[in-house]
Amino acid sequence: MVNFQQYSKYYDLLYKDKNYKEECDYVISKIKQFDPKAIQVLELGSGSGSHAHYFCKAGFEVTGVERSPEMVALAKSKNIEGFNPTIGDISSFEISQQFDIALSLFHVMSYLTENESLINCFKRVHQQLKSDGVFMFDIWYSPAVYHQKPETRIKRLENDTIEIIRLAESKTESAKNLVAVNFDVIIKDKKTQISETITEEHLMRHFSIPEIKMLAAFTGFEVVLTEEFLTENTASEETWGVFFILKKYRK
Ligand SMILES: C[S@@+](CC[C@H](N)C(=O)[O-])C[C@H]1O[C@@H](n2cnc3c(N)ncnc32)[C@H](O)[C@@H]1O
Repeated sequence: MVNFQQYSKYYDLLYKDKNYKEECDYVISKIKQFDPKAIQVLELGSGSGSHAHYFCKAGFEVTGVERSPEMVALAKSKNIEGFNPTIGDISSFEISQQFDIALSLFHVMSYLTENESLINCFKRVHQQLKSDGVFMFDIWYSPAVYHQKPETRIKRLENDTIEIIRLAESKTESAKNLVAVNFDVIIKDKKTQISETITEEHLMRHFSIPEIKMLAAFTGFEVVLTEEFLTENTASEETWGVFFILKKYRK
């Protein structure tokens, strides 16, 4: 399934209200807590570079691995000093460098829907981290998905030249811990009044805490922190996004 292709053209506008600075401040506080000397960061699913922008500003050097060439081109066009976005799949990439920290933000791990791709990704991250390296990521949390149930959402946005309406409709596949989110994005040119519609399906997997603990143990990591992303609350049925910190414990 190809996604983040046409969608990438409107990505930054669609998420212009997302508070990337607050998210990066939260993650940086965790880096300071778990690996205070860290500098070299590997970012998985680095998208258009919105997190990397703040990490680099804070003095980190970030290498991104991102599957969508369109997103990488967008990130590169921003010329973020200290950020090197590369095209690659997070389940099979290889970089000739060891990192202090591996990060993956905004549910990128939930895009890995198969056990095999998850195991391969964790193993790759393990190989790319220095000893005692730290792996941080957020995921969709199964108890919240079952409790709240994905609902149809409508988002309206605009800039000087276009108006956008995004419809997100979801179908769950409980037996596989999957939710298929179908995005219809209608883009209207304000000058010509001409509209186009793009459609993309994003297949997302949700996880329980024991599932991540088992995956971590199997690939040489130990889970050292689990909490609600940003608030630091205990994960609950109300917590869609749960943040994990794993420490590498095997060479
Ligand atoms: C929701 S976006 C998040 C992007 C960025 N982290 C952010 O917060 O803006 C998910 C990103 O993960 C990327 N992605 C999904 N699966 C991937 C894979 N197997 N390998 C590399 N990148 C992947 C997508 O192309 C997309 O850019």
